[in-house]
Amino acid sequence: MSISKAATSKVTLPKSIEERLHIEGLVSANEVVIFNSGTDVVQGLTQTPKTLPTHYLYDDRGSELFEQICELPEYYLTRTETKILQQYAGEIARITGPCELVELGSGSSTKTRIILDAYEKLGYPMLYVPIDVSAGILETSARQLLADYPSLKVNALAGTYELALAKILPSELPSRMIAFIGSTLGNIRPKQCDLFLSQITNALEVGEYFLLGIDLQKPKDILEPAYDDSQGVTAAFNLNMLSHLNRRFAGNFDTTQFEHWSFYNEREHQIESYLRSLRSQSVELAALNLQVDFALGETIHTEISRKFDLNMMKQQLTSQGLVPLHEWTDSDQWFGLLLCQRQF
Ligand code: AVJ
Repeated sequence: MSISKAATSKVTLPKSIEERLHIEGLVSANEVVIFNSGTDVVQGLTQTPKTLPTHYLYDDRGSELFEQICELPEYYLTRTETKILQQYAGEIARITGPCELVELGSGSSTKTRIILDAYEKLGYPMLYVPIDVSAGILETSARQLLADYPSLKVNALAGTYELALAKILPSELPSRMIAFIGSTLGNIRPKQCDLFLSQITNALEVGEYFLLGIDLQKPKDILEPAYDDSQGVTAAFNLNMLSHLNRRFAGNFDTTQFEHWSFYNEREHQIESYLRSLRSQSVELAALNLQVDFALGETIHTEISRKFDLNMMKQQLTSQGLVPLHEWTDSDQWFGLLLCQRQF
């Protein structure tokens, strides 16, 4: 083959999925990366009241169940945020210009497609850096995206946000936008929120962007069914954390002997989710050398889902150097989307 022909084919041939996919931190497609040796589990289960880190909800099965939650009639969050994104993704793309899209807790990347579509429409180069604790869903959705967007490149990171944010390299494109949508910020305790936001700020250069989606405060009778649906999907999602721990740490939790329990704490503006022991029982996690005793009715706190005040959030972001440039909500003001820029 002549040199000129080789050069031409290089330009015209679309690159394969393998050439455009890079995944870091994977152990195997079906296993979550071992981020830690389970010390966080030991710590949570030996304290009173008992707690477990929320990220253990997301093994591959948990990510699947969460996708089902997003389709539930009671779970308005995903639908509402999707509508906002569909309406304003074009505007977001025009403001940011060509930029690398980093997404924390990317999951199935369904909503991400709306942003990618907007970038594609403007002819921007597309580089996507999804970050998720579930390696299986990370790879599956990356491959689907690469098949659907021929010019997209994906550098996926399997890990917790903290690890991934610390590991992230300077952007290959003129700018970067870190997207943290779906109100996952609501899982972070108020006291840890500033630290988390400072990690975002540090992962950005001055002038780069942060896109934040947050669920807003609303009446209890709308919030509570969203976290305790009639089909029991949310219950299965919460209980799956125990199956995950069984697999990860050679445990013997009997998931039929616990129940899902959640309520809206109006004073703290947060849904609190628990697993409640249906009898007095003792559980072993052999790999952690841990035996845990439960009284009848004793709970493990697994998640908070905070509900935000838009103005307070804007102030907090500003104080972290993440200045809100634009905010968008739906007509009911149920959900908020904020585009911020690192300004110092
Ligand atoms: C993915 C963290 C936003 O808190 O609303 C859904 C997870 N938990 N139902 C949320 C969840 C129970 C969800 N986030």
